[in-house]
Amino acid sequence: MITEQQIERFDIDGAVTIDTPLTTSEIASASAAISDHLPFREPRYRYGASSDFFAQPFLDLIQHPFFEEVAKRVLRADGVKLFQSAIACTYPQLGVEFSFDQHTDIQYCRSDLQAEPRRMLCSYFLWISDVNDRRAPLMFRPESHLLIGTEREKNSSTRGVVPTVEGVKMSNLPELPYVDPIPIVAKAGQVSVLTTSTVHGASVNLDSEPRKAFIVTFHASEVEIGLPANQAEMKHKYDRELKRRLRPERLHILAA
Ligand SMILES: [Fe+2]
Repeated sequence: MITEQQIERFDIDGAVTIDTPLTTSEIASASAAISDHLPFREPRYRYGASSDFFAQPFLDLIQHPFFEEVAKRVLRADGVKLFQSAIACTYPQLGVEFSFDQHTDIQYCRSDLQAEPRRMLCSYFLWISDVNDRRAPLMFRPESHLLIGTEREKNSSTRGVVPTVEGVKMSNLPELPYVDPIPIVAKAGQVSVLTTSTVHGASVNLDSEPRKAFIVTFHASEVEIGLPANQAEMKHKYDRELKRRLRPERLHILAA
């Protein structure tokens, strides 16, 4: 499942890559479904979709008990709910320099990161293809969520507010002693458990095969996480649809 040592790595670094019980055929089905949903059309190389897909391989991943169980451990929660899900595919782009984006998608106070249950999202980047350091690895700066969290805790305008999803580019982040970004490499079927409050971002694919990922996020049942209005509406619509499509014994992962 996930070891105490791996949870500690997540707490400190903001990301840890672990094995999953997913089978080769589950990963192959998800890979084919991503290719169907996100085909390559020049001149774009990076594709994504969020909370608007219902292909069975995706539903199987969303409701797989592994993600619920690991999220409960990581968030120190008795129960967790699905927050959002997404798919991503980055196709090879020849003849360009390696480059990557850097941003946070949400920010927390230090006390949110230490609360029990955690007042934060547990995000999974499930790798549907192998990811080497040339195949569009996700880049991230270890411990940057803690630096930002300490800063927000000090500030009375950010302390105690409900954490809300909002992208902030690196250029708009406070100047703090961040460590250099490192690539996350993994085998297909492994998952990176990540907080998107670390400075992170997608990179270009200099390899010969597409890099595919399935992303799913959870929060502790009693913890509120804010969403911009358009994303909240999309989430409610998706949750309503998932209620009709998930297996009856898995419906408890959906918000009421
Ligand atoms: Fe992000």
